[in-house]
Amino acid sequence: MAITSALGKRRLATVLNYDDARASAKRQLPAAIFDYVDGGAEDEVTLRRNVQGFRDLAFEPHGATWVEKPDLSTNLLGLELSMPILTAPCGGMRLVHPHGDLGIAAAASKAGIAHVATSASGYTLEEIAETPGQQWFQAYKFSSQDAMRSLIRRAKAAGFEGLVATIDTSVSGNREKDFRNGFSYNMSINLSNVFRMAPKMISRPGWVYRFMRDGMPFVLPNTADLTVDGKPMELTEMIRTGKESHSPSWDDIAWMRANWDGPLIIKGILSTSDARTAVKLGVDGIIVSNHGGRQLDGVPASIAVLPQIVEAVGDDVTVILDSGIRRGSDVLKALALGAKAVMVGRLPAWGLAVDGEAGVSHVLETTRTEMVRTMRLLGCSSIQDLDPSWLSQQSRAGAVAR
Ligand SMILES: Cc1cc2nc3c(=O)[nH]c(=O)nc-3n(C[C@H](O)[C@H](O)[C@H](O)COP(=O)(O)O)c2cc1C
Repeated sequence: MAITSALGKRRLATVLNYDDARASAKRQLPAAIFDYVDGGAEDEVTLRRNVQGFRDLAFEPHGATWVEKPDLSTNLLGLELSMPILTAPCGGMRLVHPHGDLGIAAAASKAGIAHVATSASGYTLEEIAETPGQQWFQAYKFSSQDAMRSLIRRAKAAGFEGLVATIDTSVSGNREKDFRNGFSYNMSINLSNVFRMAPKMISRPGWVYRFMRDGMPFVLPNTADLTVDGKPMELTEMIRTGKESHSPSWDDIAWMRANWDGPLIIKGILSTSDARTAVKLGVDGIIVSNHGGRQLDGVPASIAVLPQIVEAVGDDVTVILDSGIRRGSDVLKALALGAKAVMVGRLPAWGLAVDGEAGVSHVLETTRTEMVRTMRLLGCSSIQDLDPSWLSQQSRAGAVAR
C-alpha cells in the first residue's frame, strides 16, 4: 500500500490540469475502463461541443483591480460549498479504483464541497452515506417504479440531503467504444470473459492487482433486492437497452415531490420547455446537462443552452450546469451565464484513476487554484459578482449559435 501511494504521489506531481490527469489515468486503466469513462455517444459530436462551447467564450476582465483573496464560497439549496462545485453522480467508479464512490465522496467532503451519489454506485447507498460530508442521491428507475421508490426511501433513511432525478437516460446512450470493448456482454468472471479480456488487462498490472483484491466488483449493489431473482444487476446490464425506462417520468417526479421533503433537483434539462415543466412540478433545482455527451448525440453543449434556460426560469429554481467542465475558468464562465454551481464527472474520475481518493483531492484543489487565479486576473472579488458582463458579447453570440 505504501509503495502504491508513493507511486501515486509521483504520478500526481505531474498532473497540473485535466489533460494531464486524463493522460495519467489512461496509463493506469485497461483500455475498456478508460474508454467507458472517456467516451461519448455515437460520433461524440456533443462530447466535443461541450468542451468547445467553453473555449468559444472569451472573458472580459475588469482591469487594474487588485483582488487578494477572491471569495468562491456559496450556499446552494442548503449546501455550504467552499467553491461552487459538486462531484457528479457517475456509475462504475469502483471499476476505476477500489476507493470508488467512497473516495470521491470523501475527497469532496475534504474540499468543502458536496457529492452526488449515483444509483449505479459500486458501494451501497448506505455505505456512501456513511462518508462524512454533504451528499445528494441520484435516482434511476432501473426499469421499475417499485425499484425507484424503494431506492428513494432508502436514500431518505440513509440521510441524503437532496434528491436528483436524471431524466435523460430512458435507455443508455449508444457508446460504441463500450460495445467494441465488450461492455455489451455480461462482465461476470467466467472462462470465456477471462480469455477475451486478459490480453487487454495484462499491460495494467497495478489495476488488475487492485481490482482482484477488491473482489472484482462488476455489480450494482443498490439493486440487490430489486431484481426478480434477487441478484444485483451488472453495470453492463444497464448499458444494454431495456423494455422500460431507466429514467423517471414527469409523473414519477410529481411522486418524488410529494414524498421527498428536501431539495429535489432534475438532471438532464436542455430545453426551456422541460425547464418550465420542472418548475411547474415544484422542483427546487435543475441541472442543465447532456450527461457529458454520453446519451443523445447531437444535442447542444450545455453551456450553449444555459442562457436561454436561465432566462426562462428566472429565480423560480436554482440552475446548476454540467458537461464539459475541464478547468476552473470553465466554472466561472458557467457562473457568469447564470449557473449557481457546476458538477464535474470525468475530472474526479481521472483523479481517482491516478491515485484513488488522494487523486480526486488533487484534481479538485487544482481546479480551485485555477479558479482563484482566474478571479484575480479578472479583477473579480466574489463569485456572487459574476454576470454576463465578465464575458465578451461577441464570443457569447458565437458560442450560443453553435
Ligand atoms: C463514467 C460515467 C458514469 C456516469 N454515470 C452517471 C450516472 O450513473 N447517473 C447520472 O445521472 N449521470 C451519470 N454520468 C453523467 C455525469 O453525472 C455528468 O452529467 C457528466 O459526467 C458531466 O460531464 P463531464 O464528464 O464532462 O464533467 C456519468 C458520467 C460518466 C463519465
